[in-house]
Amino acid sequence: MDNQETYKAFEALRQGAENYIVRRNNAYKKEVRYFTRIEASNYLSVDGKTVDKYVKMAGIDPNRHEDAAWLIDINEMYQVRELLPLDKRIEHKFTRPKNHKLQVIVVQNQKGGVGKTISAATIASGLATEFHEEFRVGVIDLDPQNTLSTYYAPIVEGEENQWLSVGDLMAGKFEMEEDETFSNVVSESFLQTTIPNLRILPATQDDRSLENWFHRQLHNQSLDKPYHLLKNIIDAVENEFDIIIIDTPPSMGFATINGYFAATSVIFPMQVAENDIDATCNYFKFIPELWELIDDHGHTGYDFMKILLTNHKTSSSTTTLQNKLSNVFGSFIYSREFNNSEAIKECSRLVSTLFDISKSEYPGRTKSVFQKAKDNAYEVTSQVYRNIVDVWDKDN
Ligand SMILES: Nc1ncnc2c1ncn2[C@@H]1O[C@H](COP(=O)(O)OP(=O)(O)OP(=O)(O)O)[C@@H](O)[C@H]1O
Ligand SMILES: [Mg+2]
Repeated sequence: MDNQETYKAFEALRQGAENYIVRRNNAYKKEVRYFTRIEASNYLSVDGKTVDKYVKMAGIDPNRHEDAAWLIDINEMYQVRELLPLDKRIEHKFTRPKNHKLQVIVVQNQKGGVGKTISAATIASGLATEFHEEFRVGVIDLDPQNTLSTYYAPIVEGEENQWLSVGDLMAGKFEMEEDETFSNVVSESFLQTTIPNLRILPATQDDRSLENWFHRQLHNQSLDKPYHLLKNIIDAVENEFDIIIIDTPPSMGFATINGYFAATSVIFPMQVAENDIDATCNYFKFIPELWELIDDHGHTGYDFMKILLTNHKTSSSTTTLQNKLSNVFGSFIYSREFNNSEAIKECSRLVSTLFDISKSEYPGRTKSVFQKAKDNAYEVTSQVYRNIVDVWDKDN
C-alpha cells in the first residue's frame, strides 16, 4: 500500500468502527433500573403491603406497563423511600456536613485490562444505589477509550454532542456565556445517568489528543500548573457530590497524574496472575517517584490506599499467589476479592453494571449467577464504603 492507500485503509477501519458502535448502541438502549414488587420490598426493607401503600401514596401506577407486570423504576423507588415514615426507614438520607471532605477515589494501575473500569463503575453504582445514605456520586472518565462513559450512557438534554468531555474542560475548550461561571460549566458537564444520584463527566475519543495538548502547552510555557487542572474542575462542584470515582487509562500520562493529584484516596485493581503481579510490583516500585512529584505540587496525602484483587477465580495456584501477596502487602489488600463472573460479562454486554439492573431484568440463563455476583459486588463496595465513612468519622 502506498501512502494514499494506507490512509484509505485506516479511514475504512474508522468507518467500520463507527458503524459497529452505532449499531451496538441502538441494540442496547440503556434503561433505568426496574424493580418487581419483591425486589422493591427487599430494597426498602419493608413488607409488600407497605410497598403497595406508599407506592399508591406517591401516585405511582406500578401496573401501567404493557405486559401488566408490577414494576417501578429507580426514580419511583426513591420517591417511595422518601415517603416512608421514619420508623420504617433505616435512616435518614445523608447530607454531607461541611467539615466532611469530598472523597475522590482514583482507580489506577498502569497495567491494562486488570479491571479498573469494571471496578470503578461497579463501586460507583453500588455506592449510589445500595446504601441508605443515597450518596451523591460523581464518576469521571479519564480514559479516552471511554468505556466507563458507555457504561453510563449519559442522558444529554437538547442537541446531541453539545456536551463537554473531561478533556475539553481540562484543556479549556469551551466558551462561557457572559453570566456563566466556571462552576456552572463544570456542573452542566456532569451529565445525568439512569441512576438519579449518579452523574458522569464523560470522556470522548477526542480526549486522545489531551496528552499532546499538555506537551504543547509545556513546550510553549503556557501552563504553569499542569497537574492541578482536574482538581480545579472537582473543586468547582465540590458541594454537589459526596463521592467522586475517577477511572484512569492504563498509562502514566498527564491525565492520570491529574487524577492522582485530585484524589483523596487510591484503589489499585490487580489480578492474581503471575505476570499481572510482576507488572503491578514494578509499578509500585515507581510510585514513590510519582508521589514526590505530586507532593511537590502541594498534595497533602491520601486518606486510604488499597489493592483490590479483581476478576478472581479460586484455585490452589491463585491461593498460593495470594499468600505471597498477603505476605508482602498485608493490610493494603482488601480482604474481599472481586470475583470473576459470567454475570459481569453479561452486564457489560448490556453496558450496565450489576447494580444498574435488577435480578428480574437479568437476561442470563441462571439468575442465581447474577445474585451471587451482585452479593459479591456489594461486599466489595462495602469495603470502600467503610473506608469512606471512617475518613468522615475522623473529620468529626
Ligand atoms: N470480575 C470479573 N468477571 C468477569 N470479567 C471481568 C471481571 N473483571 C474484569 N473482567 C473483564 O476483563 C476485561 C477488562 O476489564 P476492564 O475493562 O475493567 O479493565 P481495565 O483495567 O479498565 O482495562 P484498560 O486498562 O484497558 O482500561 C473486561 O472485558 C471485563 O469484562
Ligand atoms: Mg479501563
